[in-house]
Amino acid sequence: MKPPRKLHIKSYGCQMNVYDAQRMADTLTPEGFVETANVDDADLVILNTCHIREKASEKVYSELGRLRTIKEEAARNGRQVSIAVAGCVAQAEGQEIIRRAPAVDVVVGPQSYHHLPQLLVHAKRHGRALETEFPVEDKFGFLPPPQPQAIRARGISAFVTVQEGCDKFCSFCVVPYTRGAELSRPVARIVDDVRRLTDAGVREITLIGQNVNAYHGEGPDGRIWSLGKLLYHLAELPGIARLRYSTSHPRDVDQTLIEAHRDLPALMPFVHLPVQSGSDRILAAMNRKHSADDYRRVVDRFRAARQDIAFSSDFIVGFPGESREDFAATLALVTQIGYAAAYSFKYSPRPGTPAADLQETVSAAEMDERLVRLQGLIDSQQSAFNQAAIGRTVDVLFERAARNPGQMVGRTAYLQPAHVMASPDIVGRVLPVTIESLERYSLLGTLAPSAHARPSSPLHTGA
Ligand code: 5AD
Ligand code: SF4
Repeated sequence: MKPPRKLHIKSYGCQMNVYDAQRMADTLTPEGFVETANVDDADLVILNTCHIREKASEKVYSELGRLRTIKEEAARNGRQVSIAVAGCVAQAEGQEIIRRAPAVDVVVGPQSYHHLPQLLVHAKRHGRALETEFPVEDKFGFLPPPQPQAIRARGISAFVTVQEGCDKFCSFCVVPYTRGAELSRPVARIVDDVRRLTDAGVREITLIGQNVNAYHGEGPDGRIWSLGKLLYHLAELPGIARLRYSTSHPRDVDQTLIEAHRDLPALMPFVHLPVQSGSDRILAAMNRKHSADDYRRVVDRFRAARQDIAFSSDFIVGFPGESREDFAATLALVTQIGYAAAYSFKYSPRPGTPAADLQETVSAAEMDERLVRLQGLIDSQQSAFNQAAIGRTVDVLFERAARNPGQMVGRTAYLQPAHVMASPDIVGRVLPVTIESLERYSLLGTLAPSAHARPSSPLHTGA
């Protein structure tokens, strides 16, 4: 029997890329590949790239420089290493990658991962990289085989893709171009994936999509189902302890989704709801199609439905035309909403997007200063949110053994890591933990006494 070939995947960017990396690994397992965490051991290295901001794209070329050295060193030792570039940079700059990085054997876009085995054979046979065409039709099933397929369970938490692509066309964003038009998967396919994962021991499902709450998939009744309706349905399936979804657009929050948060204990009260800016002028220039007040109203509706709900968001500072007043409006919005976490980025013009044609008006120094101020505010909110857990008893879904011997780690409803001393058999259970202290972003606590006395209760709502 041939020894297994080793596969190393380095993933950048969003949750969809994490999911895609797992999907690629699953596609290559039947081809005799096993995953390795060590890039120096690998026979095949896949860079799963992100094109969302300039910085993310640039990383690809510096990483490819490093990989080329590894490949040449291996060749001197008589070992062949292949390099593949996947993800959104592959999609957007395929030809450029082949031109700039001749060490690359395969360039493959997100719609073509199921062709990876054939692409590797092609590269080996012809000794040069082939850029796949990225047929959008593939998404509609004109070309075999249909995808995405369910990924193999890898622990107790898993992502399931429910929709891909985005039709929103925010003026700064490449996603509608790299990931294409919005397409929702049928409910039956999603249910199959979830069943397969829960049968393999998964307890937490995060439904993912670039614009997940725009979901409008075909239901088993032949009607179009919304994300809210899908969540009600999935919450009924056996084995599900927790449901999440990401990433949402404020314009697509409908009443059923709000009610799902009111009615479904399994639906976690933590919503990633990017706003990007607190200034109506900038939101309009971003083509967000909502105002800051629209956003406030959406947050209020969620809060009215579920008191303990918390939010995270994304922000861009230094968008063309952003004045001091506009930036102050962003700080004011953050202060008013109070986030449990948030990500903030300096604006970077992306080729092909409408905003790339706008005159940049915010100097690099000013952009840096705004980013530092915004991140300072967000950090203080996050710390306050984490501090507030101390002394409380909260539900934790346990995932695995921690680094320290005897310690187990899981996550709270708000994705905070929580550590306790406990036996490994708590993996996969939701147990109440009394939080005693905070170490950086991690909560430390002890299992609440009742946890020892009663059986697993996935729907326990805590104190
Ligand atoms: N410049 C800076 N940040 C961007 N994002 C998307 N495009 C850009 C860009 N051109 C940010 C947005 C988005 C997150 C995933 O990345 O905040 O929500
Ligand atoms: Fe990009 Fe806007 Fe779509 Fe989000 S909603 S993926 S920011 S275009």
